Amino acid sequence: MCGIVCYVGKKQAKPILLDGLKQLEYRGYDSAGVAVQQGSDIDCYRSVGKIAELERKLNGLEINGTTGIAHTRWATHGEPTEENAHPHSDQDENVFVIHNGIIENYHMLKKKLEKQGIKFRSETDTEVLAQLIGLNYEGSLNEAVRKTMSQVEGTFGVAVIHKDVPDEIVIARRGSPLIIGVSEDGHFAASDVSAMVRYTNKVVHLEENELATLTADGFSMSTAQAKPIERSMETVEWRIEDAELDGFPHFMLKEIYEQPETIKNALRGRLEPGEGVPKLGGIMPVWDTLKECRHLVIVACGTSYYAGCVGRYLFEKLTEIDVEVELASEFRYRKLNFPPNTFILALSQSGETADTLAALREAKRKGASLLGVVNVVGSSISRETEAGVYNHAGPEIGVASTKIFTSQLAILTLMALLLGRHQNLSLTEGVEAIRALQALPDQIKTVLSQANHIEAVAEQYYKCGNWLFLGRKYNYPIALEGALKLKEISYIHAEGYPAGEMKHGPIALINPDMPTVAVVPRDDMYEKMISNIQEIKSRRGPVIAIATQGDEKIREIADEVIEIPETLQYLNPILSVVPCQLLAYYCASFLGRDIDKPRNLAKSVTVE
Ligand code: G6P
Repeated sequence: MCGIVCYVGKKQAKPILLDGLKQLEYRGYDSAGVAVQQGSDIDCYRSVGKIAELERKLNGLEINGTTGIAHTRWATHGEPTEENAHPHSDQDENVFVIHNGIIENYHMLKKKLEKQGIKFRSETDTEVLAQLIGLNYEGSLNEAVRKTMSQVEGTFGVAVIHKDVPDEIVIARRGSPLIIGVSEDGHFAASDVSAMVRYTNKVVHLEENELATLTADGFSMSTAQAKPIERSMETVEWRIEDAELDGFPHFMLKEIYEQPETIKNALRGRLEPGEGVPKLGGIMPVWDTLKECRHLVIVACGTSYYAGCVGRYLFEKLTEIDVEVELASEFRYRKLNFPPNTFILALSQSGETADTLAALREAKRKGASLLGVVNVVGSSISRETEAGVYNHAGPEIGVASTKIFTSQLAILTLMALLLGRHQNLSLTEGVEAIRALQALPDQIKTVLSQANHIEAVAEQYYKCGNWLFLGRKYNYPIALEGALKLKEISYIHAEGYPAGEMKHGPIALINPDMPTVAVVPRDDMYEKMISNIQEIKSRRGPVIAIATQGDEKIREIADEVIEIPETLQYLNPILSVVPCQLLAYYCASFLGRDIDKPRNLAKSVTVE
């Protein structure tokens, strides 16, 4: 979604900002803009579409200045036009503002300002911020932003420059992340470390309702009540190479191929084969209460939610804990009863998904304890949960999540195993699970080695406009995730269904032009799945089966078979999702889609 990158220092700002914007492209956006300041001159340029458009606009122009703010916008209020792109300025063009988030009372504020004669040039909520900061400015930009914070409701990460205060950027945060980057050549602010990791890995996180003033030589932080804050610097582990394509045509494909490595990273240092008990240092701070937990609610959005759905089966299989899985965006409408010692577990790649954060805060109000499985170190969810486990999977750039899904499943298995071993799970079962987990990276490589075959299957079916994905039990969420992957990046309509429900509706759709992907590994559900596949075949529907290596029976029934190696039943999803990811990728590729940045989607959904 919207992205922010700012720089104030000794170097020219323009190339740094453009580079930062390119690193933020993966978040999803529809327009972009930049404002560079030199003395009391501020040059502001905006354009609709890709950063390349903005770059073309700036080409050949002399834009000097060592201070600047830049933004990628994902439209919420007002269409993606140049007028609505950020930066926005006040009426007199003294103040320039970029903003992530939503100002909820903007309509009322706008009406009030218009009555005072203020002319607006855009349809955005952000312009209200710019106008207010302009009106509130009385010599201190920091004070003007602070006063404006007290007048607006909603969420924001903002960065502001003013003509009268060269070489100074003021940033403020409420509900939308901002990180300060510290380097010898100056200071950065960004909504996401990837925008500045080329220049520095030393960061300081701005917390809720805090402001900071950045200059070339330093920065100062304070609360909304003007109380100074000291916070120590952190070092981020991501490197710029992690955010490069490395010879792959798309980040999504690179990330699919990274899965043997990201599973290893999820397991590294966490396996204790002899005892059959994993070690998870991140949850030890709450272990005394967690080990008594009998009620767990998993909350997440999108692909992370489907990982949570597999998680429910994993916890039910390995522990005595009652598990519910909730879409974070629906969580607040549920009247959930939290028995004593309920834990809420948030799953989130970005750690910034607004609905997941809101669900956590709501659960906290109701007295639950909060856990997280998060990829981005230092993200809001990692900071607001009491304890948790990091994926350590490196940046995920492709908008459609892949490597984090399998990494989440590996971590959920570890968590369930740890709790299960504390409860009734036997040593034999613990040891067996750990051995099976250790085998997964090589088994994923075996699945990946069929990429050419999967590409050929995709080539045969990518023109079909409707697809069905079916699975049961552990693989029902894989049917959901497989359908989501396909629709996200190829724009083909796809539905994921529990195979048992097929007869209650989807079977009416079956015809020779509607392929069904059946996730049918050899497990307890096998025979039932075979019956469902027969029902599809008798209606002349093509079937692509994802089945266990060496299954000869399925070859006689299905039109196409993609094999996965044999593992424990509850670990099958970590393997069976990989062919789904590749099928979606190759279909989208044959259709010529913008795979890493599918239309209308955003990597990190920071609005509710
Ligand atoms: C967006 C992304 C999805 C992701 C979801 C949840 O919709 O496009 O790929 O699964 O957000 O994101 P999170 O960062 O919380 O896992």
